[in-house]
Order: sequence, then structure tokens, then C-alpha cells
Amino acid sequence: MIKLTSMEPTRIQTETLIIPVCPDQAIHRSKAIRAWIRQALAVHTFQAKKGEDLALHHLPDVKASRILFVGLGNQADVTLESYRQAAGTGIRLSQHAAAGDAVLVVPDGDTGADLTRDDILAAMAEGALLSNHAPSHYKSEHQTLPLKSIRLQTDTALVRKSQIALKRTTAICTSTLLARDWVNLPANEKSPDQLARLMAQAARRHGIKATILDEKKIGALKMGALLAVGAGSAHPPRLLLLEYHPPKARGTIALVGKGVTFDAGGLNLKPTGSIELMKIDMAGGAAVAASVIATAQTGARQRVVGVIPLVENMVSGEAFRPGDIVRSTNGRTIEIGNTDAEGRLILADALAYAAKAYRPRVMIDMATLTGACVVALGEKIAGLFSPDDALRDLIDQAGRDVYERCWPMPLPEDYRELLKSELADMRNIGPGRWGGAIVAALFLSEFTGKTRWAHIDIAGPAYHKKSSPYGQPGATGFGVRLLCRTIAALETQ
Ligand code: BES
Ligand code: ZN
Ligand code: ZN
Repeated sequence: MIKLTSMEPTRIQTETLIIPVCPDQAIHRSKAIRAWIRQALAVHTFQAKKGEDLALHHLPDVKASRILFVGLGNQADVTLESYRQAAGTGIRLSQHAAAGDAVLVVPDGDTGADLTRDDILAAMAEGALLSNHAPSHYKSEHQTLPLKSIRLQTDTALVRKSQIALKRTTAICTSTLLARDWVNLPANEKSPDQLARLMAQAARRHGIKATILDEKKIGALKMGALLAVGAGSAHPPRLLLLEYHPPKARGTIALVGKGVTFDAGGLNLKPTGSIELMKIDMAGGAAVAASVIATAQTGARQRVVGVIPLVENMVSGEAFRPGDIVRSTNGRTIEIGNTDAEGRLILADALAYAAKAYRPRVMIDMATLTGACVVALGEKIAGLFSPDDALRDLIDQAGRDVYERCWPMPLPEDYRELLKSELADMRNIGPGRWGGAIVAALFLSEFTGKTRWAHIDIAGPAYHKKSSPYGQPGATGFGVRLLCRTIAALETQ
């Protein structure tokens, strides 16, 4: 929970008062704060460079127990992301054993022409909320605890003006943390049915209609691809449908998320080195569920539905095989070239279903789909595919706004022949390794009909081994802020 306050800085009572600092520009107006910053910059180890920090304890005539200065770097290079990171760093450094609260000072001086104070406040709130989270732990003793209270210090006018924006930011960040928690859950605690229930429960709390289809209903819908992937697991597949339907909704946006609760690869078993992390293969589904939940709280005026196929890709005597031919719900037949290319199979059924059942004006899928996308773009940038330039640009811009970066990738028509099968309508892999992320996206496009559609491959950014300024090691929750911003941007179209 974050609250806004406006107080004379010297009188703020808190354990840690966090002040972002530029070395070359006075971004705070308060005389007291400027004097403290001069004191901090006099310490030779602190130059207010990006990522630097310094704590001064028990200053005279200051109610706060300590002041924590966080460097932003030179003003010309400061972006909203700098503020997210500074706030995140400040909060993370405040989470020592005894800590209960912190106050972040929102700059009110010259922060440059490009950044509005509202946006800076929202960015700082975001960084703070996202870093103030202890991942659910399985250790008997846990080290850091989240702060019980965080306040943002600003002036009275902005306090009044920012309440609604803060509510929105809080909803989106809380949902992002929810997505992180789901992705961090070990696979033995999130079978398709367990995860479907967890997600449905969270969604229903916010007035979202949640329906869980079991394997019989999935069979009745003739989703042969989803059933095939799930056949090798003792835990049968589920299809989770989340529907946020406000009165007087203007059109529907369908979000489709890959929900492989563990990807062993199937009979094309993943080797050691690739299999260990495959509990995260439902990160797209988690981002979709969390985005629908956040959207419901922020009162969008469009119907937003989440379609999440949940399945475990395992090995057994019942498992589907390379060479099998399965029939998707839209009637197309698929020859299985590799059982480890399972994400596109379950998404094929989910996309075809979403397009037909909801007739959305826009459909976006998110998936940890290919290792090839990680090879192409690394671990921080998602691959963005769409035959619709306007939709692609809109998502690209949303990614820049929230710093969940996407890079536009091509969907070349002449590559489609790579998916040709001798026996069936198509194969689920191409003949070689090259262009794997593109081939996967082209496969998906066979199931979207005429619906405006985009695909986001988050295999890289879904998970970080190391901590970042506003993320612990582990799941990042990537995609929630991106989808929420995209939905908001689509609302004005
Ligand atoms: N879940 C993986 C993709 C993945 C890789 C996610 C690394 C996160 C990190 C996906 O199902 C997969 O196995 N893809 C194969 C496709 C290949 C068999 C055509 C791949 O990328 O190697
Ligand atoms: Zn796979
Ligand atoms: Zn997978």
C-alpha cells in the first residue's frame, strides 16, 4: 500500500527518507532537502551517478532516522525508468530487519521538459510497489520483509490530483506481483487444475467471471492439439476463461496466454541445462490472468477476456509422439514434428477458440514460446509479431512507456512454406533451426482467422536469474504492465 503525503521535509517521521538526486541539477525545491543533498555530495563516495546510493543517519533537526540518497545520473539522461529504478533501489535498501516504513520524496524542482510530475510520481510508485515484495518462500527462515508502509512525499495539489492515478498504478503493480508469484510457484504446486483454480479465485475476487473447462469439455470443443500436449501428464489439461464485462462495453479485447505448468519437452525430452526452469512456461498465462484482473480494477470500458490453456508437457506411455497427427478445434490438421514445440499447439486451439467465441476486435497472445527469440533479442526484450502495423506500433509504444521493451519482428509470407507437411495441413516445426521465433509466430497466425492479432514472445524477459532495481531474482511479471497499457491505449481507438 502506498499513500501520498505533503509535509515539511524536516518533520517527516520515518525510518528512511529516500531522496532521488541528480548531480547536475536541483530537482528539489525545498531548502532543507537541497542542504542535505549538498551534505551527501560532500561525501566523496557519492556523486549521485545512476545506481549510486548513500545513507546519512540521525542528522540534526531531522525527524527521519536516516536519509537515503539515490543517484539518478545527469538530468539530461533521466527517464521515467530512472525514477522507477531509483524508487525500487531506495525501497529495497530500506528493507532491513527492523524496517517498517519509508518515505520517498517526489521531486518538485526542475526535472526537465520531457517528464511531467504526474508521470514521475506514478513511476516512483511503480518502482516502489514492485520492489516491496518478498517472493513466497520455502526457507524456514526468511531474510527481508516487505515494508508495511510506503509514502510518497509531494505537494498538496499533486496529492489531490494523483489519487486516481495511484489507485490504477497500485492495481497494476499488485497484479504484476500476483503474476510473479504464480510463475515462481514450483510445478509440483501448480498442476493445470491447481493453477486454474488459483487464477479463477483471484479473478472472482474482482468480479470477473471465471470458467474452468476440464478435459471432457476441452474434448467436446474438439481441441485435439491441447489434448495431445496434455496426454502425457497425470494432471489433465484445463482451459481457463476469464471475462471482464463492464456495462456498455465498447468491443472486446481477447488476451491469450500460454499456460504450460511444466515443459519437460514431451518425448522430445529437454536435456539437462534446458529443463530445470520450465516451471516458468506458464508466464504468458500468468501475465494474461493478472492483466484481466488489473483491468477489472481500473474500470476499463471494454470487454476484456483472458483465454488460458493450462497443460503439463510430460513423458509417459500416454504421451503424444513425433509423427502423430492431431486436429485443432478449427478443423486444421497438424503433424507433430517435435513434442517440445507444444506452446504453439495449445495456443492454436486457444486462439481459434477466442476468435470464434468472442469475436474480439483485437486479440493478443503472450507466450514463453521459443528459445530462438531469446537468441535473437536476449533476456530483456520481447519479440513482437503482428501483420497489423498499427497494432504492432501501438504495442511497441506501450512497451516503451512502461519499459517492458518489445522489438518488432517480421512475418514473411514466403517463410510459411517451412511449415509444410506431406501428410497434414501443416507441421508444428520447420525443417531447421533458423528463424525459430518467426516460424512459431507464422504457425500461430494460421489460427487467428481475420481477427486483428499480435503475438508477444516473452521467453527471455519472463524470468531473471539476478535481482534488478525493482525485481527480486526469479519471475519478473513481464507483460502485465505492457498489456494494461496496451488495453488503455486501445480504449481510445
Ligand atoms: N518453452 C519452450 C521455450 C522456452 C525456452 C521458454 C527457453 C523459456 C526459455 C518451448 O516450448 C520450446 O521448447 N521451444 C522449442 C521449439 C523447438 C522444438 C522448435 C525451442 O525453442 O527450442
Ligand atoms: Zn517446449
Ligand atoms: Zn514450452
